[in-house]
Amino acid sequence: MNDVLILAIESSCDETAAAVVVNGRQVLSNVISSQIATHTIYGGVVPEIASREHIKAIDKVIDAAVRESGKTLEDMTAIAVTYGPGLVGALLVGLSEAKALAFALNKPLIPVHHIEGHIAANYIENTNWKPPFICLVVSGGHTHIVHIKDYNRFEILGSTRDDAAGEAYDKVARVLGIPYPGGPGIDKLSREGNADAIDFPHVTLERGSYDFSFSGLKSAVLNYINRAKMMGEEINRADVAASFQSAVVEVLVEKAVRACKATGVNRLAMAGGVSANTYLRKRMSEECDKANIELCVPKPMLCTDNAAMIGSAAYYEYICGNIAGADLNAYPGLKLGERGVGYHEPDALELADGIANAIDHNPEYIEYREAVQKLKNNKELYERVQKFKARMLNFLIAHSENRHSFDEEKYLSQEYYKIILDRDARIYFENGLDLIALFDEIMDRSLGNSMLELYAED
Ligand code: KG4
Ligand code: ZN
Repeated sequence: MNDVLILAIESSCDETAAAVVVNGRQVLSNVISSQIATHTIYGGVVPEIASREHIKAIDKVIDAAVRESGKTLEDMTAIAVTYGPGLVGALLVGLSEAKALAFALNKPLIPVHHIEGHIAANYIENTNWKPPFICLVVSGGHTHIVHIKDYNRFEILGSTRDDAAGEAYDKVARVLGIPYPGGPGIDKLSREGNADAIDFPHVTLERGSYDFSFSGLKSAVLNYINRAKMMGEEINRADVAASFQSAVVEVLVEKAVRACKATGVNRLAMAGGVSANTYLRKRMSEECDKANIELCVPKPMLCTDNAAMIGSAAYYEYICGNIAGADLNAYPGLKLGERGVGYHEPDALELADGIANAIDHNPEYIEYREAVQKLKNNKELYERVQKFKARMLNFLIAHSENRHSFDEEKYLSQEYYKIILDRDARIYFENGLDLIALFDEIMDRSLGNSMLELYAED
């Protein structure tokens, strides 16, 4: 069984990071070079400066990650990189570096969505954690409640309609005179304050909605501070911080717990910088205990930007054959679950490798692995299977949510389309079964006889 070693690179915002991750779960090294001190002078990230700082740091960070992993570049199975969302100039630094490495080493290049990376931090935190689960994503630029149906199948249940949670923290911190990034500062200051001191609005929006809105809360805090200034009144900064934080956290907790109950998925994870917040972690854990929901929260270092999470998400892309060509571009506004156009359609060999890896690393496919081994010994049949798989997976990728739009003529000959319809594949999509399960099922049925013959041979 070959381990899948991924060298992952992350440069979407103000951290230059590289990591080596084995089979999506085991972190051999996780190196982060932060530019925070540089940006603090300006009170926020300056994109142009971020790109230049990434260029200065990236080689050293990658060298350190490889060295600390105890492996060599040649040992890597693939090179992964964040290609969106984020600052375009910053993303391009990591992307160019990853492309150059992949080309020079002749290794596959795996494109990773930054937020999907944050979600994958949970797979590192708890090596038994797997979909389905609900995830509260709270970062500097994003706030979502997501139903993670499979490793790369997401349904967004709710999003922020204005500011992200982290953005609200950063803006409020600024007026309280806390340096950038404000989240950790508010976290700390709040511990000395009274969360009930000021009645800031808990914005829940329409009944039943999983969306968020933090801009009204932010304005309420700013108005409170400005009013006090105008009246010449002293404010208690710790009380303001604690009351603001409580208004954010209570809404996040209520919606996340409600999403678990409503979907019947009693497993919740957290992701993104704000999930490092001590009060959010405490309140979420209390409410999950009450509601009998299993909670997974990455350690703070895995909540904020890092490359280990990118290496984990990359593994699940790799085993689905999602490999990029050299034309991969950066996508500053990439949506969750979306795939950029730099993807090339994996060929049969890449798919076969990907599937073989999935089988190697997932105990539930172990029976299937034996069948594959036997198939591999029969060259002619094996090639037929590969072709069939390639067709099937193209179809599945084309059909799965938020991916490429489906172009029947391009992906399927009439003949295969008929086979698929005959095999009721659509029922599987509708029931949300994962790609491999569907593939197994179809392959079992369509090749069942050939496989039986094979078994009979020895
Ligand atoms: O996920 P992240 O590291 O970067 C993005 O992808 O945006 O999130 C950064 C955000 C910042 O807004 C920062 O203030 C916030 O996460 N943050 C925190 C804490 N640590 C980081 N917010 C609240 N409490 C914290 N302890
Ligand atoms: Zn992030």
